[in-house]
Amino acid sequence: MVPVAGLGTRLLPATKSQPKEMLPVGRKPIVQYVVEELVRNGIEQILFVTGRSKTSIENHFDDDPELIRALEAAGKKDLLEELSGGSGAAHFFYTRQRQQRGLGDAILCAENFAGEEPFLVALGDSIIGLNANSRAVSSMAQVFESRRASCVIAVEEVPREETRHYGIVQPDSPGEDVFRVVNLVEKPPPEKAPSSLAIAGRYVFSPLIFDMIRRVKPDRRGEIQVTDAIQLLCDEGKRVMAVKLGPGEKRYDIGNFPSYFETFAEFALADPHYGEGFRRVLERLLAKAECQAG
Ligand code: G1P
Repeated sequence: MVPVAGLGTRLLPATKSQPKEMLPVGRKPIVQYVVEELVRNGIEQILFVTGRSKTSIENHFDDDPELIRALEAAGKKDLLEELSGGSGAAHFFYTRQRQQRGLGDAILCAENFAGEEPFLVALGDSIIGLNANSRAVSSMAQVFESRRASCVIAVEEVPREETRHYGIVQPDSPGEDVFRVVNLVEKPPPEKAPSSLAIAGRYVFSPLIFDMIRRVKPDRRGEIQVTDAIQLLCDEGKRVMAVKLGPGEKRYDIGNFPSYFETFAEFALADPHYGEGFRRVLERLLAKAECQAG
């Protein structure tokens, strides 16, 4: 499932009337990379947990017969291929989170969809790997099976001073790439963080998580944190595992403007058609800015 119900307040005014997941990174909206990553990893049943003002996400993944006819008439084969490419194998389902009550509550909206099966959660505002080429979720599914886990979390190293932006995990054996998690804290200040390993927007859960979410008390902002529900799994002696993202699996977090600008620039520079030209433009702009500063 892909939660996309957040308000995107850190990206206002860009997100006043459009979802942050639809902001473009290079030539595609962010959420399309997320879907392409899932499809590449063999996940084809995708539930979006949406909210008010998120209908453009549904439209984006729907066929647009009028547009297709116009492109066919104009002989734009390459564009037609790009429109159908990447997410073609996916089946989409939508449900709404009716109130903004946090990520835990959004995940609870997937209970009927998941039924008795394990399921993956991929945050709709995080791209993993340049052009979403990461295999991390496949490794996570393998760890889930082979270690009989109740939950597997993707984690990444972050600078110690940034722990207050993430859920932070405490490993039982430091230094491993796959390890058991013994504690988790949502957005701790650096001095209270049990490590600098941050939860990176991909989770595999057994359906046990739904009962845990129901037991979690809302935080100060009235939000139900999934991190607290995972802590309950740990407290009950269930196996919670973490998989560290590898070097080619950088996480691009589009939660604020500095990281959005950086992500856009990195993807535009890597674009096979426009990257080289964009690099020259950037170099020219930088040289000009340096001249003016000097
Ligand atoms: C959420 C999770 C947090 C995680 C982060 C990753 O926070 O609650 O544990 O580290 O996503 O992006 P949010 O960024 O939605 O506040």
